[in-house]
Amino acid sequence: MPSLPLTELRAIVGDAHVLDDAGATAGHLTDWTGRWTGHADAVIRPRTTDEVSAVVALCADAGVVICVQGGNTGLVGGSVPPAGGDPARRPLILMTTARMTDIDGVDAIGRCVGAQAGATIDAIDRQAAASGLRFPVDLASRESATAGGLVATNAGGIRMIRHGNTRRQVLGIEAVLADGRILRRWTSLVKDNVGYDLPGLLAGSEGTLAVITRVLFRLIAPPDGTLVTVAAVHHVADAIDLLGALSGRGLNIEAAEIMSEAGISLVEEYGSRRPVAARAPFYVLVETSGPGDVEAVVLEVMENAPVADAVLEPGPARALWSAREQHTESIARSSTTPVVKLDVSVPIRALPEALAELDAVAGVVDHPCRPILFGHIGDGNIHVNLLDVPEDRADHVTAHVFGIVAANGGSISAEHGIGRAKTPWTHLGRSEADLAAMRGIKDAFDPRGIFNPGVIFG
Ligand code: FAD
Ligand code: MLT
Ligand code: ZN
Repeated sequence: MPSLPLTELRAIVGDAHVLDDAGATAGHLTDWTGRWTGHADAVIRPRTTDEVSAVVALCADAGVVICVQGGNTGLVGGSVPPAGGDPARRPLILMTTARMTDIDGVDAIGRCVGAQAGATIDAIDRQAAASGLRFPVDLASRESATAGGLVATNAGGIRMIRHGNTRRQVLGIEAVLADGRILRRWTSLVKDNVGYDLPGLLAGSEGTLAVITRVLFRLIAPPDGTLVTVAAVHHVADAIDLLGALSGRGLNIEAAEIMSEAGISLVEEYGSRRPVAARAPFYVLVETSGPGDVEAVVLEVMENAPVADAVLEPGPARALWSAREQHTESIARSSTTPVVKLDVSVPIRALPEALAELDAVAGVVDHPCRPILFGHIGDGNIHVNLLDVPEDRADHVTAHVFGIVAANGGSISAEHGIGRAKTPWTHLGRSEADLAAMRGIKDAFDPRGIFNPGVIFG
C-alpha cells in the first residue's frame, strides 16, 4: 500500500505548507454549499509552478492522488476530495493554490494580463482597472473565486451575455501535467492556430486533466457608461421581449438577469432593498450600454413594454445589483438543509414553459421542497435552488428537474460544471460516443487517474 511521502513533500514546499492535522485541514474539506465534505491525508500549499511540478511528479511516482482547490466556491462538489478519500484507497492530498496569487503587469496595448492560478477575480479586475481595462468575467464570488478555478469550471457569470464564458478569455495557459511536466502555451498573439486548442481543452476540465498554474487572460475596454434597469413583469415572456426590444434598438446588453418574487422577498428579509415598489411574479435586471442617449432609448422602449413598474439607475447601481447578488447567500442561510443547487439552461424560447414547470416541482414531490429560481436569462440559464430538501431525497428531485430540462432540450450544467454532483446524469446531454471520447482524453492526460477522482466521470 503506497504511503504519503511527507518528508519529500515538505522538502519541496516547506514544512509550514504541508498541513496534516485535522484542525488545519478542515477548512479545505467542506465545499461552499456545505453539502459535500471530503477526506485528504494532507493539504499542500505550493507557491510556484516548479513546486507544483515537483509535487505532482513525486505523487505520480508514489501513487498519491491529487485534488486541486482554488477559492472553494465551486457549487458541484468538485472542489473538495471524495467523502471517504480515494475510492481506490490510495493516499490523497488536497493541493490548494492559495499561495499562488501573483498578477503580472497589464499589457494595455495587447489588452491582456497574466496571473497565477490562485489570484482572485477581484484582484485581477482591480489590476486591469488600474490600466483603464476590465476583466470580462464577473460573478458574485469574485472575492474568493480564483483564476485557476474559473478556467477549470469554464465559469459563466453575469457578463457572459456580452463577453462570453471564461474559455473565451483564455489567451494562454501554463499547467502541470499528470507526470509533472509543465505545459506552457503562452502567447498574446491574436492568431496562433498551431495544433489542438489545449488551453481551450483545460477550460472546463475541473481539475481532471492538469493543475493550472498560470493563465493569460484577455481584457476588455469598459463601456463609457451603463444604465441598470430593473423592471417588474408578470410573465417571463415579457422579460424576453424586453431584452429583444432593447437590443433591437442597437443597445448593448451588458447583463440580463431574472429573479422571482420568492427570491426578492428572501433577499429583502436578509437586508437587501427591494429594487422596485410594485410586486410582480418576476423582476428582470438589464444593464445596457451603447452609442447615443441610452436612457432615452430605454425609457421609450419601457413605455411600450408590459412592465408593472421599473427603476433606472446609471451603473454600477450597486444597490440594484445587490438584490440579485445576495440571492446565493440568502438562499443558503434560509434553507433548513444544504441547498440542492441545479444550474441548468434551456433554449431561450423554452424559458417560460421550463420556468413554470421547474417552479411547480414542489407540488410533484413527496417531501419538503421550496424552489427559488433566478439566473442569467439572457443565456437561457436558470439557477434552480431547492431549499429544505432532505438529503436522502436530493437525487430523486434532481432527477425530476433534469427530466424537465432534457424534455425542453436543455443542459444539466450551464456554467458550474459537473463536479461529483451531476455525474449520474451526464448521459442526458452527451452521447455514448461523446462520453467515450472525453474518457479517452482523460485516460490520455491522466493514465494513472491521480487527478480529482470521481469528478465529471463518477
Ligand atoms: P474551486 O471551487 O476551488 O474549484 C472548482 C473546480 O475547479 C474543482 O473541480 C477544482 O478541482 C478545480 N480547480 C480549481 N483550481 C484549479 C487549478 N488551479 N487547476 C485545475 N483545476 C482547478 N459560477 C459561475 O459560473 N457563474 C456565476 O455567476 C457564479 N456565481 C457564484 C456566486 C457565489 C456566491 C458562489 C459561492 C459561487 C458562484 N459560482 C458561479 C461558482 C464558482 O464561483 C465558480 O465555479 C468558480 O469558477 C470557482 O472558482 P474557485 O477558484 O472557487 O474554484
Ligand atoms: C449566480 O449566478 O449567482 C451563481 O451561479 C450562484 C448560484 O447559482 O447560486
Ligand atoms: Zn450564475
